[in-house]
Amino acid sequence: MTQAYEEIWTEFSDEKEKAQNIKDVEAIKIKFLGKKGIVTGLLKQLGTLSVEEKKEKGAKINELKAKLTEIIEAKIKSLEAEDQEQKIRADRPDYSLPGLAMLPGATHPVLRIVREISEIFVSMGFFIADGPEVESEYYNFEALNVPSHHPARDMQDSFYLESGHVLRTQTSPVQIRTMEKIKPPFKMIAPGKVFRRDNDITHSPVFHQIEGLVVGENVSMCDLKGTLVYFAERMFGKRSFRFRPSYFPFTEPSAEMDIQCIFCSGGGCKICKGSGWIEILGCGMVNPKVFAGVNYDSEKFSGFAFGMGIERQAILRYGINDIRLLFGSDIRFLRQF
Ligand code: DAH
Repeated sequence: MTQAYEEIWTEFSDEKEKAQNIKDVEAIKIKFLGKKGIVTGLLKQLGTLSVEEKKEKGAKINELKAKLTEIIEAKIKSLEAEDQEQKIRADRPDYSLPGLAMLPGATHPVLRIVREISEIFVSMGFFIADGPEVESEYYNFEALNVPSHHPARDMQDSFYLESGHVLRTQTSPVQIRTMEKIKPPFKMIAPGKVFRRDNDITHSPVFHQIEGLVVGENVSMCDLKGTLVYFAERMFGKRSFRFRPSYFPFTEPSAEMDIQCIFCSGGGCKICKGSGWIEILGCGMVNPKVFAGVNYDSEKFSGFAFGMGIERQAILRYGINDIRLLFGSDIRFLRQF
């Protein structure tokens, strides 16, 4: 029995030494301690022995069994711990790998221009107003004296919603919303998105405008010119500007303001179409019909309004020659600002 004990012990030790993983150890457990295992076999043989022998050998076999069980359990535990350790190591980030550069964000040129323009007008005492992008036909057209036969009211030119609302085609409705809320005198600007069914090299279906409105007693065309020239000089520097008569339904008289072409300094080029001038905004004295709609007394109050496209200001300010660059989100372009 002693010899058998030692042989079993040696065999077990050898196999245990070779075991690489839990599966191997489980196999050893079955081989020695399983129902048909070697040690179990020894126990079964005890039945044929005398009581004396049974007692003695039984104790030894049980001792062996306990020892093997203990060793196997310990081995399984240590292999499990190793497995766990390996998993953790595999999950650990490799700090020696090169990192991914995080590009710091920057202000988009369109927003920069909005802020710049707003600052200029705020410094003159204007406040900033806001209005909805989904507008009623009343605010976008009717209240602004845009007649029903005007092409802008056509489905071809404006985005209509099923509800009958329109995506505002201009920031001018904010004029009406402001006048409905407050009494003159005041000076306000309203920057925001506008939408038109336009999409080509020089037009985008979504673009930005800034609206302006000044209402008070004795506000004149002279105030309009002084304010807008002051603005334009702060924006573009000392350059030549001019006012041309124009037409807008909500102003009377109306004008457009031009800047001497910044690309050719007035000599005439492709961008100014040979004229030497580039339009920067529309403006005019508020039409009394508009005042009537918001119950302003046009005998007592007068006002001027203006509206400009932001992308156009950005193009002129930064000398960009293609409007699509402003919407392309090309990081190489945007990084230059
Ligand atoms: N709403 C006009 C447009 O989108 C721009 C404009 C012109 C606004 C004259 C005004 C204005 O307030 O007085 O073309």
